[in-house]
Parts: sequence; structure tokens; C-alpha cells
Amino acid sequence: MLISGGGSNLRALLDAADSPLYPARILAVGADNPADGLTHAEFYGVPTFVVSPANFDSREAWAEVLLDNINFFKPDLVVLAGFMRILPSEFVRALSPNLINTHPSLLPLFPGAHAVHDAITAGATETGVTIHVVDEGVDTGPHIAQRSLQILPGESPGDLHERIKVVERDLLIETVLAIAENKITLSQFSKL
Ligand code: GRF
Repeated sequence: MLISGGGSNLRALLDAADSPLYPARILAVGADNPADGLTHAEFYGVPTFVVSPANFDSREAWAEVLLDNINFFKPDLVVLAGFMRILPSEFVRALSPNLINTHPSLLPLFPGAHAVHDAITAGATETGVTIHVVDEGVDTGPHIAQRSLQILPGESPGDLHERIKVVERDLLIETVLAIAENKITLSQFSKL
């Protein structure tokens, strides 16, 4: 899993994967900064790595080292959960279609880093979560699963995001479970 922040989605998946009945394991957690969420991985004894773009001349050079770190663990699936960086094409192509992202809106509505704020500003009455295969665009890849929820009148972006994340954590656990059990086949999404 790759994260950039608090890692509540990571924590939820670590908790789920702690059960012997759950068919997926988290092999490692990477971040683009010393993210708070890395402590969740450390709690479970899962290896972590940080590859910061600030240490590289280009996004491509950064992503190459990030990919090397990922490949070291030979994962079947890479999950972006609050990883707030745009990844270059070479990185996406190397992992596609086994690279998924969770996003706090009903895509294609409100892509990008401010999805929750944008939904409120647009006057939407409903929003949600999308889990999708990552392609070379920003939040444009094929959808795997979506779940919606109502936006409450006058709700702040912070409060709404917290409610979205409750739904998001469940959907992520269910989606990774379905992938691990071959109920969702990522190869049906065309390889780039
Ligand atoms: C999630 O809502 C994710 O979709 C968005 O940022 C949030 C990360 O939350 N991109 P957390 O770090 O998993 O708590």
C-alpha cells in the first residue's frame, strides 16, 4: 500500500488482514513523506519505506526508485490509499492493471485532490467513494466499485470526509477481498 497521510484506510486493511480468514496480506507500506500512517504498519510489524520526490531531479527518477522498492516485495496488487502524488506513465504501465486507487467521490464527478470540498462547493446532494484501476490520467481509470452517501445540509468538508472514510474503509476491505478471491479480475481492465 502507498499512503501520504494519516492512513486510516491502511489501518482498516491491516486490521482486516490480521484475520486468518482474510485472504490478502499487506507486504509493505510506502510513502512519499514520513507520513503519520506509517506507524500503523510498524504496529503490525509490516515493513515501510519512504521515497521523497524532494530527493530526485525529476518525477520519473523518483517513481523509478519507488517502483524498485515496491518490486522488492513482489506484490500481486498495489493499493493507493490517500497517496497524494501523480504517478508517471512508466510507473503506471509497469504495474497496470494491478494498481488500484481509492477516491472520495463518485467518479467521474470531482476528480483530483479536493474532491470532498469540490462536491460541497458544487452544491451536490450526494457523493461517495470510487475504487478504480489506475490509468495514466488523474482519477480516470476504470471503476471497480462505488458506494454513495447523502451530503447533509450545511455539512463541512471535514465532517463529510470523515463520513466518506467510514464507507471507504469498508469498500476497500470488500474490494481487496473480492480481488484476492478472484471475484473481481483486474485483467478484464485492459492493460495499458
Ligand atoms: C481518503 O479519503 C482517500 O480517498 C483520499 O484521502 C483520504 C486518505 O485518508 N485521497 P487516510 O489517510 O486513509 O485516512
